[in-house]
Amino acid sequence: DGTFSEKLRVPEALTFDDVLLRPKESRVEPDEADLTSRVSKNVELPTPVLSAAMDTVTEADLAIAMARHGGLGVIHRNLDVDEMARHVEKVKRADELIIRDVVTARPEQTVREVDELMAREGVNGAPVVNEDDEVLGIISGTDIRPYLEVGEQDDVAEAMTEEVVTAREDTSAREALELMYEHKIERVPIVDDDERLVGLLTMQGILQRREYDNAARDEEGRLRVGAAVGPFETDRALAIDEAGVDVVFIDCAHAHNLNVVDGAREIKESVDADVVVGNIGTREAAEDLVDFADGLKVGIGPGSICTTRVVSGAGMPQISAVAQVADVASEHGVPVIADGGIRYSGDAIKALAAGADAVMLGSYFAGTAEAPGRVVKMNGKKYKQYRGMGSVGAMQSGDDENRYLKEEPEQEEDYVPEGVEAATPYKGPLRDELHQLAGGMQSGMGYVGAETVPEFKERSEFVRVSSAGQAESHAHDVVITDEAPNYSPDSS
Ligand code: XMP
Repeated sequence: DGTFSEKLRVPEALTFDDVLLRPKESRVEPDEADLTSRVSKNVELPTPVLSAAMDTVTEADLAIAMARHGGLGVIHRNLDVDEMARHVEKVKRADELIIRDVVTARPEQTVREVDELMAREGVNGAPVVNEDDEVLGIISGTDIRPYLEVGEQDDVAEAMTEEVVTAREDTSAREALELMYEHKIERVPIVDDDERLVGLLTMQGILQRREYDNAARDEEGRLRVGAAVGPFETDRALAIDEAGVDVVFIDCAHAHNLNVVDGAREIKESVDADVVVGNIGTREAAEDLVDFADGLKVGIGPGSICTTRVVSGAGMPQISAVAQVADVASEHGVPVIADGGIRYSGDAIKALAAGADAVMLGSYFAGTAEAPGRVVKMNGKKYKQYRGMGSVGAMQSGDDENRYLKEEPEQEEDYVPEGVEAATPYKGPLRDELHQLAGGMQSGMGYVGAETVPEFKERSEFVRVSSAGQAESHAHDVVITDEAPNYSPDSS
């Protein structure tokens, strides 16, 4: 055979629908299965699920919800650097036990001023401090209301409670709660040795912590968050690192471009946070990145809104891509994230069986209440916008470092998009969606008889599915009368 015919002796590459997990002997009940896994060398998640860095998916609100329920939101980068840093800070501060950025009042302010200030900042009470930050009292909505009712313009010094119970930095949540019960108060200012205000503990903050007992938190108890940067955006990386991001995601459609590899290496050297590099889809790409990356992200064109494969003719079916990268990464202790193409919980757990440590989803979360974007009604059904980051709309609203953009075109017709703009059914709160996803993944672990993710990765085996087998897998020969919370034939 000639060189070209030889090229046609091609290896087979498989994706989610081509395989199923082989059921195995098991004593594991699904709800006993522990999903804890790593996204990067130093960041572990109770639920190894990430929301995509896309402008219709992850900003602070969704990232907060993701982390509270054990996952990780990755803030998109179609935002200017300062705005992005603010999103990161918002997540890091959301469930902080000791609030550091305390809203304070001055004794000489009027009650009306403070009332407006508290409304603007979304708080219901504020320590009153002098110019040296010494705590003089505390004022709450309850203190202010009677004054406002009679239209008085008294100052804060008049209305505040002067006897303030304060505590020191090292106060635990339990001690703070005891203080609160004892004194029937809801806020305890934290002061240093000179009685200067350094923080605030609130009842609401403590109870919130308790409510989210499966949250993804850092060593200090703050929520985890990720954020995306372009491979040459060292400034953006430094800004989000400064803002406290846990994982920087180098976000690129083809990270095996050697300029991208150099850029990623430079960013890794400049930041403290872990650095995940992606996307890639082959063994060779993994080999060129494992020596410095803290994680590798896999996916060349599997996404629901992606047209990369049809536009460029290049790509790699996702299960094979994950397995190839994981072959190399696992040897070096580098976690692998499977990004794109996951429609059902079954796909997510298949990705782990193929060697991934965590999964990233876009369309699955785009319809949740916490995702950015408006709810629109079409034919009586609710939808939310969902678009590829390589779609014309996303490229136009981003800056010129867009992941799919070669050069900023002069007119709309000159864009060569690799994604589409679409709508996805409105789904309600993220919590329920993530619960279904994690529950389905645990169920998969139960069928394989694995209690932990590492055990599952080792024990799981695949069988190949024919197209007849695939049709058999879906609901068939019936008319669905009631929608299931975790299955819609539309997404197949
Ligand atoms: P799903 O299937 O979860 O995929 O909606 C989300 C992932 O798709 C990638 N992505 C794109 N890929 N063109 C592409 O080829 C695009 O415009 C595009 N936008 C996002 C990305 O990896 C995301 O996490």
